[in-house]
Amino acid sequence: QSDRPAATIANVYRGTFMHSTQKTALEVLEDELLGVDTDGKIAFMGRGAELQTLSQTFGFNPSEVTQLAKDEFFIPGLVDTHIHACQYSYAGTALDMPLLQWLNTYTFPVESQFTDLNFAQRVYSQVVKRTLRNGTTTACYFTSIHTDASLLLGKLANDFGQRALVGKVCMDINDFVEHYKETTQESQDETCRFIKELLDKKYPLVRPVVTPRFALSCKETLLGELGAIAKKHNLPIQSHISENLEEVKLVKQLFPKYASYTDVYLKNNLLTDKTVMAHGCHLSDEELVIFKETGASLSHCPNSNISLCSGLLDVRNVLKHQVKLGLGTDVAGGYSASMLDAVRRARDTSKVLTIQNPNYNTLTFEEVFRLATLGGSQALSLDGQTGNFEVGKDFDALRVNVAAPGGPMDLSVNSEEPKIILEKFLNLGDDRNIAEVYVAGRKVVPFTD
Ligand code: GUN
Ligand code: FE
Repeated sequence: QSDRPAATIANVYRGTFMHSTQKTALEVLEDELLGVDTDGKIAFMGRGAELQTLSQTFGFNPSEVTQLAKDEFFIPGLVDTHIHACQYSYAGTALDMPLLQWLNTYTFPVESQFTDLNFAQRVYSQVVKRTLRNGTTTACYFTSIHTDASLLLGKLANDFGQRALVGKVCMDINDFVEHYKETTQESQDETCRFIKELLDKKYPLVRPVVTPRFALSCKETLLGELGAIAKKHNLPIQSHISENLEEVKLVKQLFPKYASYTDVYLKNNLLTDKTVMAHGCHLSDEELVIFKETGASLSHCPNSNISLCSGLLDVRNVLKHQVKLGLGTDVAGGYSASMLDAVRRARDTSKVLTIQNPNYNTLTFEEVFRLATLGGSQALSLDGQTGNFEVGKDFDALRVNVAAPGGPMDLSVNSEEPKIILEKFLNLGDDRNIAEVYVAGRKVVPFTD
């Protein structure tokens, strides 16, 4: 360890830091110092009172420390484990139908327009900017079936400095919008081209993810081929599972030789320790055991689950099965692109379960905070790199100012206790309270358009 050349410190921040660890859903560090090195990694943490010693050990000038104001604190960046970039244009509308009708009526006709790269540029730059402003430092995106537009999203995430997983959607079945699908061969070939071209760009924070839309959009051959592609290139995988009861019923009918919906993905090599599956509202305990055994994770998308009347995910049961779990906005099935909304809807869902069963162990705000940060990083297999303030990880963080002028909480901070102020921010705050956003040490918000 002592042989390693000392990192060069680029920035040091002093103030309150709040984050989650494996042991505790909320750790509050008051008057803490955090140093970020020139690679954007957290080089050290320590008590404010030890400023002099730390400045000598790590070689920085104490007068250049950035001191947070009284109403400010740092939290880790928010991780959106499931968002459809190509559905952003109609977010906030079209929520009057259940999933399968919703896909046919609203989603497929819009997604089919991403052959137009000007349209793609407009929608994708807006979604990256909006999510960054809302504090999403990492986003796991679905695009459309179009490779070039998908590569463009990768470029935009890189340009704006967002950490992103980008998945070109694969589908060789579409009985309703017939022109919006690929042949099985095209889907494989374009997936390989997408992976190769995105990796060739060497964007430091952007990775491809193999993306079968869901079992109802993919023939068995395609599922198997995509599983093989992911295995060959050791890539992450994302899809949807057990979101809605009609979907579950159709999957049973179409895949009769499989034991369950989970088994369809499992047998096609699509359930790995790098897989994230959205929803899972209707998974059985046996299926959750398979998630635990394979190391696959779930993305809880509470706004979408309620907006499309899909179901209520029992997060307590998922956690009991020790399945990795993050939160997702699922734009545009979910109408909000803000992870703060996902936090609120996750809590609401847990409370609805408590209304139905007063003995239910409601999620605390600290637990939901963990799901939105460290949980999301774990679900995306990024927790070696992000998710909390641990020395050696990248500095992905939000500088929160609860007293932002014109913001929703300017006169309403009624406590000196950081944990209570965090609760208030999670419930009432918005992007006006997110003064700065950092990804890998770089300030990416505010940005100039
Ligand atoms: N299942 C398959 N495709 C989709 C989609 O685009 N959104 C949601 N919420 N569920 C899906
Ligand atoms: Fe989705």
